[in-house]
Amino acid sequence: MLPVPPCGTEPARAHATALEFRRLAGAADAARYRAVRLECLARFPDHFGSSHGEESRKPRLGLEAPIEEGAADRFMIGAFAGERLVGIAGFVREARGKAAHRGEIVHMYVDPAHHGRRVGEALLRAVIDAAFALEGMRQVELNVVATNAAATALYGRLGFRVHGEIPDCFRAAGRSWNQLLMSLPRDRWLAG
Ligand SMILES: CC(C)(COP(=O)(O)OP(=O)(O)OC[C@H]1O[C@@H](n2cnc3c(N)ncnc32)[C@H](O)[C@@H]1OP(=O)(O)O)[C@@H](O)C(=O)NCCC(=O)NCCS
Repeated sequence: MLPVPPCGTEPARAHATALEFRRLAGAADAARYRAVRLECLARFPDHFGSSHGEESRKPRLGLEAPIEEGAADRFMIGAFAGERLVGIAGFVREARGKAAHRGEIVHMYVDPAHHGRRVGEALLRAVIDAAFALEGMRQVELNVVATNAAATALYGRLGFRVHGEIPDCFRAAGRSWNQLLMSLPRDRWLAG
């Protein structure tokens, strides 16, 4: 189990600390991750480049095997209300040697019943801490659909800055979305 995020006096933060935050590991957690990730894509189709239809047809989602195997540099942290997985945030380190000082936060999601109570912030803090604990990790990055105001506000609050934007990144049903590229260097994170 990960250390519980610092406890404050605000009710929202107290809610987050009532949950258990831990790294997903083993076959049962991999199955929970799959169910929650597909639920996320079904509920928030405009927030992701992946679609529920495409992902649900895959026999294995991207982080199922790393979760089962307990991989060190491709992992997922979950927020649990009892046995129920109510939030996820993953991390994938770059595989190429020249880029292995970088990695990406992926599959960020909190069950809507828990939104706005700092569960997302606690998950993000836990995944960033775990990423920067990896030997040689210098920069954490993520991609976010530009219209996703709640997510971009959360990432900005934790120190991520926009370093690029892909216009017309995703297209579906006659609509188009831009994607923001955001990054957080280790020094900025440690400086708070
Ligand atoms: C993004 C997400 C993970 C945030 O989870 P959460 O637990 O609600 O996050 P937190 O409570 O820690 O913080 C959310 C922040 O967004 C703010 N927010 C919520 N809705 C907002 C909106 N429409 N516009 C601007 N800010 C908004 C909240 O006020 C809060 O900031 P504050 O604490 O300074 O007030 C959650 O909204 C989610 O799962 N969304 C659907 C999936 C998704 O979009 N994932 C991100 C893909 S990159």
